[in-house]
Amino acid sequence: MDAPTVMSASTRVELEIKSESVETTQALGAALAAQLVPGDVIALQGELGTGKTNFVQGLARGLGITEDVNSPTFILANEYPDGRLPLYHVDAYRLENASQARDFGLDDYLNDDGVTVIEWAERVRDALPQDVLWIEFEYLGENERRLVLRARGARAAEILDGLKHAARN
Ligand SMILES: Nc1ncnc2c1ncn2[C@@H]1O[C@H](COP(=O)(O)OP(=O)(O)O)[C@@H](O)[C@H]1O
Ligand SMILES: [Mg+2]
Repeated sequence: MDAPTVMSASTRVELEIKSESVETTQALGAALAAQLVPGDVIALQGELGTGKTNFVQGLARGLGITEDVNSPTFILANEYPDGRLPLYHVDAYRLENASQARDFGLDDYLNDDGVTVIEWAERVRDALPQDVLWIEFEYLGENERRLVLRARGARAAEILDGLKHAARN
């Protein structure tokens, strides 16, 4: 597996990573999973095909979930109760705004003792809690993606710190 390349880690609350394979993106998801506690919220943004679902697949594996993880584009959310923590995988692609997200019941996931990961989270930004770890996915080339992790809030900063320490050891 290609090692992830840390492109910059200038501030405490931001980490920029280059992935050169699907496996690397999934491994990053798994590494993030190890840092998570009940109630954590991870917001993924970026165009179609930039690796958001691949990342969630790795995150699910990292939580010990053995079920296949696919994009819940049409059903909006999938629930995986059988890992170290329950995982709620939301795809906001078909939601137009925060009020649609609330109508759909997003708060039930956010307020639960699981981990909520939201694809296309920028579409429902105003329905998200204050403390969120944002990950922006960007296409660089056929197998290359840039991931920028940005902590918004104290808990998100803690997750990011944990990830940085884990990457160093
Ligand atoms: N480094 C990489 N990380 C993630 N996906 C990659 C990478 N390189 C190529 N890909 C391909 O990009 C696509 C990502 O798909 P997916 O994870 O479903 O994206 P999204 O959920 O953002 O729409 C897959 O076809 C995958 O094989
Ligand atoms: Mg997807």
